[in-house]
Amino acid sequence: MDNPTNSARVDVTAPNTVPAEIPTVRRPDLLSVEDAKAMKLGTMADLFMAHINPGQMHFMKLLGFHKVKVERAEGMYYYDQHNRKILDFFGGFGSLALGHNHPRILAARKQFQDENRHEIAIAFMSQYAAALAKNLATVSPGDLDMVFFGSSGSEAMEAAIKLAERAAGPDRPKVVYAINSFHGKTKGVLSITDGELYRGQFKLVDNTVRIPFGDIEAIERAFRADRGIGVIVLETVQGGGGIIEAPDDFWQKLRSLCDRYGVIMVCDEVQCGYGRTGKFYAFEHYGIVPDITALAKSLGGGKTAMAAMIAKRDIYMKAYGSPKNAMIHAQATFGGIGEACATAIEALNVLYDEDLIENSAQTGAYLLDRLEEMKARYPKLIKDVRGRGMMVGVEFHDFSQAMPMVVKPMIAMLDDKLKGSLPGFIGSALLRDHGVLVAFTEYNRNVIRIEPPLIATRAHVDEFIDAFDAVLAKGVVRIVKDFVASQVG
Ligand SMILES: Cc1ncc(COP(=O)(O)O)c(C=O)c1O
Repeated sequence: MDNPTNSARVDVTAPNTVPAEIPTVRRPDLLSVEDAKAMKLGTMADLFMAHINPGQMHFMKLLGFHKVKVERAEGMYYYDQHNRKILDFFGGFGSLALGHNHPRILAARKQFQDENRHEIAIAFMSQYAAALAKNLATVSPGDLDMVFFGSSGSEAMEAAIKLAERAAGPDRPKVVYAINSFHGKTKGVLSITDGELYRGQFKLVDNTVRIPFGDIEAIERAFRADRGIGVIVLETVQGGGGIIEAPDDFWQKLRSLCDRYGVIMVCDEVQCGYGRTGKFYAFEHYGIVPDITALAKSLGGGKTAMAAMIAKRDIYMKAYGSPKNAMIHAQATFGGIGEACATAIEALNVLYDEDLIENSAQTGAYLLDRLEEMKARYPKLIKDVRGRGMMVGVEFHDFSQAMPMVVKPMIAMLDDKLKGSLPGFIGSALLRDHGVLVAFTEYNRNVIRIEPPLIATRAHVDEFIDAFDAVLAKGVVRIVKDFVASQVG
């Protein structure tokens, strides 16, 4: 019988099936950063269609974005492939408080890199996250002291509603939200984001109660009728809704109602916060402090993705205060990463060193005055001008109202379908003929959103108004004709 232990040992060498010169992992044909920088407009469009969002290209073409390749951006301006300056009165929906590539932000980031600082904040404690959290607690009123870091407004708002839900407790799981609200597109916050466009046919959380924004009676009725309501979430100023503020006495009344009914109050400041309305938080205009708030967008200094949820300490402790539940809430892999925190620390310092909040209030008031002049000059086109600081909306009349008398009744039948087209034509003319960029709003598509960097001066406002005036002076028929010509040309 063979004894395997006695059998002669045979050395078996694995056949070398792979010749040494052929690497096991073939290097794919990758584009480099230099390839990206040198890319032609046509290739950019093809790749966008092939890999990012073919449907979105339709809108890019309508607005003329497909003809612009941004080569660099500084301060208030983009510079395109022809070195044409584009005045940025869109500001990334409020993401560019400090403008593009602020030199102090670039320097802070470069220094951080040159010193080989660390990024990951989920192993060792991060001195950068600690300093940024301390800064945010310092600029936040009351005992808004506890900070959670994420990288998008949606993530910060997810954290806000999760914290609120746990603090409210299992007997009060219902969340009140407003008509025309926008809190993000991830699935949790989508449940409190209004509007069929975004909600699509997703299966959403159904423990929600929808109320008209700014309607204190409706909220009181809801609180009284349903003790299951534990949380209310509102944007302090509705951005996507078309730059809408609640009546001045609304917030004080809401604070009292929330205190009386023990409902946790969440103010979403992702768009209206960070000095945009002329105070650090928009809720400071109304002399109230919510239980939880959230910031994102400009928090990253216009250079990085950074978001924060900021909560009152007692609410936080109720939900996550013990070692047993602390990790439910701990940050995601990139929450509070080093260079993003360093950038946000520097950005907050710049915001105050350069008095940008004050500038937002003052230059914003000037912008509103100049827009009121436009409204007086073009009453058939402009229906309303509103906002605070540098969060401003210009609402146009329905298309038919702007048309000559003879065609008015015919066009009126199409007003609903045509909503958004007049601002679209005007926005595309501003970009095409004057190198000025503005934004649109999600729900009321007759509104142009104006959210320039908070570094904007009166001269920038004048530049914008001159362009706006020149477009409106053409009259609606010429505006439409020029738009049609631009699409076929
Ligand atoms: C008020 C408000 N909340 C939340 C969000 C979501 O932020 P993000 O797009 O960074 O996820 C936005 C985005 O525009 C917003 O305006």
